[in-house]
Amino acid sequence: MREAMKARDASYSPYSRFAVGAALLGASGRVHLGCNVENASFGLTCCAERTAMFKAVSEGEREFLAVAVTARTGHGAPPCGACRQVMAEFSPAMWVYWRDTRGKVMKKRLAALLPDLFDFMDHGKKRL
Ligand code: THU
Repeated sequence: MREAMKARDASYSPYSRFAVGAALLGASGRVHLGCNVENASFGLTCCAERTAMFKAVSEGEREFLAVAVTARTGHGAPPCGACRQVMAEFSPAMWVYWRDTRGKVMKKRLAALLPDLFDFMDHGKKRL
């Protein structure tokens, strides 16, 4: 969560003024940071979790143990549905940590946050 707060410092969110940071722990032991990156064409915004995922995968990481997500104090920051689907592509069993509105850190398996996910191929068989 400390790393997620660091990632949040780089957030580009002039439109929503809602900065989000994510820290993704890869199976390699590396921590990959991501923040939300907004755009004047709002729909092109990329969430912090997907920024971290795409950075990590583009650097060769494909298995993830956990992600921590934080927004500003007083706001819960569980990952949105799109980010859940993107993270589940690689590691549906990973742990997801986020703060609730009181600042308490919550933790759930990604598979519990996204039951019955859409999976085009069996996990493990798509690494070709
Ligand atoms: N946002 C994230 O970074 N992660 C989420 O899981 C949900 C929303 C960002 C997108 C946008 O820049 C801002 O929060 C407000 O929606």
